[in-house]
Amino acid sequence: MKNKNFTKTLIKWYLANKRDLPWRNTNDPYRIWLSEIMLQQTRIAQGLPYYLTFTREYPTIFDLANAPQDDVLKLWQGLGYYSRARNLHSTAKKVAFEMNGVFPNDYQGLLKLKGIGDYTASAIASICYDEPVAVVDGNVYRVLARYFGIVLPINSGEGIKAFKSLAMELIDPKQPGTYNQAIMEFGAMHCSPKLPLCHECTLRTSCFAYAENKVGELPVKLKK
Ligand code: ADE
Repeated sequence: MKNKNFTKTLIKWYLANKRDLPWRNTNDPYRIWLSEIMLQQTRIAQGLPYYLTFTREYPTIFDLANAPQDDVLKLWQGLGYYSRARNLHSTAKKVAFEMNGVFPNDYQGLLKLKGIGDYTASAIASICYDEPVAVVDGNVYRVLARYFGIVLPINSGEGIKAFKSLAMELIDPKQPGTYNQAIMEFGAMHCSPKLPLCHECTLRTSCFAYAENKVGELPVKLKK
């Protein structure tokens, strides 16, 4: 019951409050892939101009695949983590030239591509192909740890497994892409790290951290 209510409330909140972002108006795996790679370790406000430039310069995966690596790296300048750009280019070439420009259409297939790990494969498979695989990023860790009172460290093997498995239970199998984007958006805009908007939160009455006054202590991260 608590789980069903969580999922339903979150999706309702998202549909009323989501930001209108360009990758939310498409199911094109190329564009979803691009946006998800760019947004890793990056705020939406910072990533958005790069997304717009990339999709203008390289509207299809073939345009990106045919571009010289130096041009791609130049357009990436300022985003950081340059291995992301190198993997992006290498995977674009693989999909364009060895797979006729067609991305694998499921989680397992996507996972085989360079630079695509559990997070990105789950995002693409759920948003583009309606596969019920849950994303777990920093936003998801924060929302789940607070709401369900999970004290397992998010950077421990046990924690990573437990959060993924809970997220898999919570996903709405009828609209997995919407659910995944809802929980990330909620974590980014509402259940934020420093000043969460608890006073106006629709999940407040059943939130563990709110009831126990532990919002500032969750999620737990081990110092390594
Ligand atoms: N952060 C990264 N990808 C996102 C998405 N698809 N929706 C909301 N926040 C995100």
